[in-house]
Amino acid sequence: MRKLIIAANWKMNMGPQEAADFIDSFSQKVADAKGVDIVLSPPMVSLAAASSKLAGSSIGLSAQNVSENDNGAFTGETSTLMLKELFVQYVIIGHSERRSIYGETDAIINAKIKKARAANLKPIFCIGETLEQREGGQLEAVLRTQITDGLVGVSVEDLAETVIAYEPVWAIGTGVTASAQQAQDAHAFCRSVIAELYGQEAADKIRIQYGGSVKPANSAELLGQEDIDGALVGGASLDPQIFADLIHNALT
Ligand code: 13P
Repeated sequence: MRKLIIAANWKMNMGPQEAADFIDSFSQKVADAKGVDIVLSPPMVSLAAASSKLAGSSIGLSAQNVSENDNGAFTGETSTLMLKELFVQYVIIGHSERRSIYGETDAIINAKIKKARAANLKPIFCIGETLEQREGGQLEAVLRTQITDGLVGVSVEDLAETVIAYEPVWAIGTGVTASAQQAQDAHAFCRSVIAELYGQEAADKIRIQYGGSVKPANSAELLGQEDIDGALVGGASLDPQIFADLIHNALT
């Protein structure tokens, strides 16, 4: 069975002090949560503070982005080795905000996934369609292209350390959640694409998170779907009590 993975994506929220305060409060609230990987993704400047707070904790630490380059003249960027130095384990790659606001292409995302795996970071590889694409009947074509092009040259061993996050763009930050059936259908399709590319065993093992307006009121239904193995949570992860409730509800 696939272990659930519920990750917070704090986006550009939570400075170092706020991140530390969140962890003090949140860690106690989820101390009893078993059978789930919990991951926090603070902004880059808060990773060091979060890392020291999480030392010895079972809560994982993720960055929200990483450079596809090793080091050098890349102003504003952060390398995999810098993240490793802070004991970061995961990195969100290809979030729709990175794709749409910062122009990240499938090729860049692919380079980042490979760079992350070379440093033994676990990618949280985001995919998802816009409303226009869904309504235009392109859902499956879009997901297939994002998955195939994002994973070019990624070995089956590296895939096993990768999490896919299906985040329909129209459900992000809008309060509109995909219905459990819409999400399940998209996840099953993504898993079938992985089966075509890597075989059934790899497809059965890979964890696919749902993201887009997940909250305490809908986490149980969404994560109860057969092919939904966790959640990537934005807004509802910014409050320790709400995020803890979301996790507890998903486990019931
Ligand atoms: P919301 O949960 O705020 O819709 O954000 C989802 C998301 O983009 C997580 O990466």
